[in-house]
Amino acid sequence: MVHIRPEIEDIKNEIIDLRRDLHKHPELGFEVHRTAKIVADYLLSLGLEVKTGIGKTGVVGELIGANPGPTIALRADMDALPVQETGNVPYKSIHDGIMHACGHDGHTAILLGTAKVLASMKDKLHGNVRFIFQPAEEGDGGARFMIEDGCLDQVDEIYGLHLWNYQSYGQMGIQSGSVMAAADGFHIYIKGKGGHGAAPQGTVDAIAISGQIITALQTIVSRNTNPLENTVVTIGKINGGYNFNVIADEVKMEGTARSYTEENRQMIKTRMKDILDGIGKAFDAEIILDYWDGYPPTINHEIQTEKVKQATCKITDNLGCRPYLSMGGEDFSYYLQKIPGCFFFIGSAPLGHEPMSVPHHCSHFDFDERALLAGSSIFVQLIEDLLIS
Ligand code: NI
Repeated sequence: MVHIRPEIEDIKNEIIDLRRDLHKHPELGFEVHRTAKIVADYLLSLGLEVKTGIGKTGVVGELIGANPGPTIALRADMDALPVQETGNVPYKSIHDGIMHACGHDGHTAILLGTAKVLASMKDKLHGNVRFIFQPAEEGDGGARFMIEDGCLDQVDEIYGLHLWNYQSYGQMGIQSGSVMAAADGFHIYIKGKGGHGAAPQGTVDAIAISGQIITALQTIVSRNTNPLENTVVTIGKINGGYNFNVIADEVKMEGTARSYTEENRQMIKTRMKDILDGIGKAFDAEIILDYWDGYPPTINHEIQTEKVKQATCKITDNLGCRPYLSMGGEDFSYYLQKIPGCFFFIGSAPLGHEPMSVPHHCSHFDFDERALLAGSSIFVQLIEDLLIS
């Protein structure tokens, strides 16, 4: 049972309309100009101090409470994905090949609704609320640019949420510690020596070596990782060779590595390098590893996580407060590296669908819009708990 706060219930249609309008007009990466304008205008209409052009196209709104106190930041991401929408909803994307397939339209609407309700509670606030709307969560790390432009200056704590179709409406995922993975990428170049397929002597077969590499890299997860922790090493692409009777001189592989801790992340990098050096030596090939860091792991702080749990348990019954983990990446991690906070999940599987059947980033993505109201209710409750009492 979810108890939507009455002030949110009152503006229910407005929140849903905002979400549908954003869904219909999705924008990519840093190009969230229309969305940012809607956000800025809305925050201005509530009487907030608004800064635009933060982190290129982000928007920051400040609600100054009547009484002094800490500054709490709430964050939403605004960007969509390069996906062609195949669902048939009335608010279907009007932009070919662009779609809100992760629910960031919902995050923006949740935070706007939250801002409206909190603005009306301004006189009771002992502290300030900073509303952070960032671009480019999907890959370009918009959060880093927001931080560089000072969005966390004078902020004491930060909170963010993700609609989560892997859980039913009413279930929340809140857990301290690591909740989303470091999402790194790598290219491996194997340089051998080609030759005739029937005369392997004197050649260095890059394809045979790639087989050794694929097998050996899996031992990082199975033999080097503590079995009570989680890591993933995936080779997602492999390219090489010319013909059935030619020994390949070159193979290129691409993959991703995921981990929940900086220690495991470093361990994967070091082991990959050692394994590749060893295989290169053993087979007389030149092997180059090009490894790049993606988003860091998203690591929640314990005290702030407890605060979210307490607020959430006033909105849903205890059953709803369930931890949930994902090996996906999230650039909220950058904020959590700077200041304490918590990133949590709002169950949003579409009505009548099993969780998992409409996954994030799929072309028919949609969610249960009641989750918008649940998200706003939790944010409002959290601020009430933190700044009014
Ligand atoms: Ni997302």
